[in-house]
Amino acid sequence: MLKVLNIVGARPNFMKIAPIYAEMKRRESEFLPLIVHTGQHYDAAMSDSFFVDLGMPTPDVHLNVGSASHAVQTAKIMMEFEPILLGQKPDWVLVVGDVNSTIACALVCSKLGVKVAHVEAGLRSYDRTMPEEINRILTDSISDLLLTPSPDGNENLKKEGIADEKVKLVGNVMIDSLLRNLKIAESSTVREDLNLTEKGYAVLTLHRPSNVDDKEVFGGLIDSLVSISEKIPIIFPAHPRTKGRVEEFGFVEKVEKSNIKLIEPLGYLDFMRLYSGAKLVLTDSGGLQEETTALGIPCLTLRENTERPITIEMGTNILVGTNPENIKQTAFEVLADENFTANAKIPPLWDGKTAERICDSLLNYST
Ligand code: UD1
Repeated sequence: MLKVLNIVGARPNFMKIAPIYAEMKRRESEFLPLIVHTGQHYDAAMSDSFFVDLGMPTPDVHLNVGSASHAVQTAKIMMEFEPILLGQKPDWVLVVGDVNSTIACALVCSKLGVKVAHVEAGLRSYDRTMPEEINRILTDSISDLLLTPSPDGNENLKKEGIADEKVKLVGNVMIDSLLRNLKIAESSTVREDLNLTEKGYAVLTLHRPSNVDDKEVFGGLIDSLVSISEKIPIIFPAHPRTKGRVEEFGFVEKVEKSNIKLIEPLGYLDFMRLYSGAKLVLTDSGGLQEETTALGIPCLTLRENTERPITIEMGTNILVGTNPENIKQTAFEVLADENFTANAKIPPLWDGKTAERICDSLLNYST
């Protein structure tokens, strides 16, 4: 029986841990899973609603860390997690993704000699100004088992000199959650509530500091999005950071006068119902690039690079950067091209069975 502490902290972690935890619970003679929530995200809309939508139990341990600078947040998670780890004595700690909670907990484990498995290992944007890129590189360098979502992850890890025997291609566990919940999400009334018809709208999310913390950059993005919204209404569920910047930079009026509808962040099922019916998605999120690939929805990524190049290779995603003119032109072209994703593909092992392969790998690597 393997005792596993599953770490969650921020919004993109919950839909990755949910299927893994459920699979461990299903295999109760093999696994004793516990959930540890660092509290990196704490608003009901950023955290609690995901537990409800994903059918996850209240975390067994809550570290209640909250927001702070990167150093303070990471350090606080480490300080709060260390005594838990010493008390729980798990066989494995499982961390997912690339947020501060991921590196903080992995680092505590490596210092105490507790085995760490990293789910979503090997992704690289090769842009070290991104806080997540630092978290990815460091977490991978100290993990005992590196579970990759796509072959590019294996190649990146090989280049960094990480031993092949620690690396296993398991597929994308976020797609397990997506496939499990797509039907359930049909009961969401979000499209009706917002008066939307299928393929009659676009969805926008933005939260990267590089896009929303600089007034000029964010202003340029807003201008291009206002132009795009003249062709198709844009629904914009805004992260708390982003909403704050819209107000601070004085963009409220410009947005309100346009065909961009800024709304509160949505829960997992409502958001799935929203983007799954969109004609176009515009985003700087990592997860949404993958979710649109899995569903064959055109996606424009408003960043200069991506750690998920497979989504471009598959034919759904275009890296448009942050140049307003380029974003506008590309959006117009994609909107006019009914066949844009006609030949799009889904990566191998994005099949809804990744949690099973993760559990199998943990067992195999424990013997
Ligand atoms: C974090 C992750 C990012 C991920 C994103 C998803 C890191 C380095 N970044 O970024 O990779 O894509 O989560 O959302 O871990 N806030 C609230 N309520 C909350 C949480 C945050 O209002 O529940 C506000 C606070 O003002 C906080 C700010 O958002 O200071 C940023 O939160 P933080 O967790 O530091 O980073 P994110 O931008 O959410």
